[in-house]
Amino acid sequence: MLTETQLHDLLEQMNLEEKIGMVHGDEIFRTKGVKRLNIPPLRMSDGPMGVRREFLGKTWGWHIKGDDMVSYFPSNSALAATWNTEHAYLFGRALGAEARSRNKDVILAPGINIIRSPLCGRNFEYMSEDPYLIKKMAVPLIKGIQENDVAACVKHFAVNNQETDRLKVNVEADERSMEEIYFPGFKAAVQEGKSKTIMAAYNRLRGDYCCESTYLLQEVLRKRWGFEGVIISDWNACHSTEKAARAGLDIEMAVYTDFDKYYFADNLYNMVSSGEIPEEIVDEKVMHILKLMNELNMLDGTRQTGERNTIEHQVYTLKTAEESIVLLKNEKNILPLDARKIKSLAIVGENAIIAHSEGGGSAEIKALYEHTPFTGISMYLGGACEIGYARGYTSDENADRHVRFDLREEAKRIASAYETVIFVGGLNHRHDVEGKDRTEYQLPYEQDELIKELWCINENLVVVNMSGTAVDLKVASECSRALLQTWYNGMEGGRALANILFGDANPSGKLPFTFAKELTDYSSHSIGEFPGVKDVNYTESIYVGYRHFDARDIAPMYAFGYGLSYTEYKYSNIKADVKKDSVIVSCDVENTGNADGREAVQLYIHDKVSEENRPIKELKGFEKIDLKMGESKSVQFTLLRDDFSYFNSTKGRWVMEAGEFDILIGASSDDIRLETTVEIKNI
Ligand code: BGC
Repeated sequence: MLTETQLHDLLEQMNLEEKIGMVHGDEIFRTKGVKRLNIPPLRMSDGPMGVRREFLGKTWGWHIKGDDMVSYFPSNSALAATWNTEHAYLFGRALGAEARSRNKDVILAPGINIIRSPLCGRNFEYMSEDPYLIKKMAVPLIKGIQENDVAACVKHFAVNNQETDRLKVNVEADERSMEEIYFPGFKAAVQEGKSKTIMAAYNRLRGDYCCESTYLLQEVLRKRWGFEGVIISDWNACHSTEKAARAGLDIEMAVYTDFDKYYFADNLYNMVSSGEIPEEIVDEKVMHILKLMNELNMLDGTRQTGERNTIEHQVYTLKTAEESIVLLKNEKNILPLDARKIKSLAIVGENAIIAHSEGGGSAEIKALYEHTPFTGISMYLGGACEIGYARGYTSDENADRHVRFDLREEAKRIASAYETVIFVGGLNHRHDVEGKDRTEYQLPYEQDELIKELWCINENLVVVNMSGTAVDLKVASECSRALLQTWYNGMEGGRALANILFGDANPSGKLPFTFAKELTDYSSHSIGEFPGVKDVNYTESIYVGYRHFDARDIAPMYAFGYGLSYTEYKYSNIKADVKKDSVIVSCDVENTGNADGREAVQLYIHDKVSEENRPIKELKGFEKIDLKMGESKSVQFTLLRDDFSYFNSTKGRWVMEAGEFDILIGASSDDIRLETTVEIKNI
């Protein structure tokens, strides 16, 4: 590693042209290095589900060699559904290792924007509607990535919560919602995860593009949070030379290939040469980049080489995928299916057979392989049972009515001829996609009608919804014996699903966002502020996700934190001990059912009296614990002053108001099993 003085010496030796080369894209995914000083270019790649395919660089043409195939990891929404911070760490470590083995310096992940509406096209790349869950998962993920001499690039800072008009839309959000909802994930990513880079988003906030927002980049990020890393623009998110340069953007990246025309290219060079912009501003950016390169061992020393497509990454992917699947309903314990007894099985639905890794936008990857639900189930059963398949519906928008009718008839025929039916439907990357939002909450391709028809024919119907976001599950829930939520679950997704269906793995995923009955039950939709065109006003303030459902007493279809298991857990013995500077809460959880399992125990707080309204519940702790049949464990949580505080809008700062707080422990946000009250004077 070079010393600070050596880095300054390096900067001293650079001429303006060389400095400018480092602060803008010289290829689509890299900047220019300075050969004569042994400074390499900074090489970046998407993204959250694996390292993206290789582009030629000077153009968007594809690299045709096959050596850019990689592990396809579960999407961020899947990861969040595990509620397992250890998985987040392993995920990061594997993603970082694959990025390094593809010779990347920065991996453009994780995506941690708040899920404000189920219709946002990129929700699958994000984690949750809850800032606490996001922060707890993002921090270990970032640490894992960065153990590989690769920088994480946490994105998209900030309030990039819709795809409609994403390049221009202006968000108006009050300070309290920024502090309590939209900032905590990023703040923790920077302060606890030590993310070395951050991506400034496309949209505007309070009139300013994020890349030009002195408030976001200087005031919040650099001054309040002490961020010392590199601020990179989203691709085409920079709209000016001077304003963005002065606001603190370090690197401008874009999608067009006229690299000298970037705002931070010739234009910046000319403005600095003519004295309109002081050279120190560019120096500061270059220093941020040099420090980053130094920390990644790019300037000196030995650098890790990473690894990809290893068995370890595959095993790990399988475990995460298993743990992400959420059991929503299991009437008469139809699941797990008994592979020894089952004689014939019909699999219906397009999502049983199509691969998803190559879709979604910048999150696409060239997967080494991808086990679909159909291959996963077939591999599991190993020929021991007769399997029938019917597509049932098609996502082909050009298919005419006859084709659709025939597909449906075939599915009905199969459903009547086989003992059990597994329907695998949901969305795909035409819906869960970058650049556009969904327009309907309902399942597409008339899947609800198909599910109803299958249900009339065969009551041994298991419905599996695959999506990266919440969808309308009313019909799927009514017309099925069992209902599972799965995700774009990586290369082992199909095998993970089979392991859950046949009981080799016990479901322990919990929903990281609320599944509402109606679209208008979500706050952003109830106020008509999704999607915004030109402007969007977050007048729901902090009432996003379950905070809103609780406040308005709206029963969701499936609540935040919800998920069943093949066993039962009994919660008891809550204790809360108020210490000098913390509150220690504990409870016992016992596995009282007939299978070994894992439970995500959740802790929420409720402030009984406060100067300003506070949510009925706020997640402030969770623990994922292993419990063998009959086993009981004590779970402990430590709550600090921050956990009881809120951002008081009148005072313009975080406050902890002394008084009584309820501590709620449960299996989901609407299944609180234990409750106690503590009086907090001033911890
Ligand atoms: C996306 C980013 C991505 C970048 C580079 C943009 O369109 O918003 O998330 O990292 O492209 O591909």
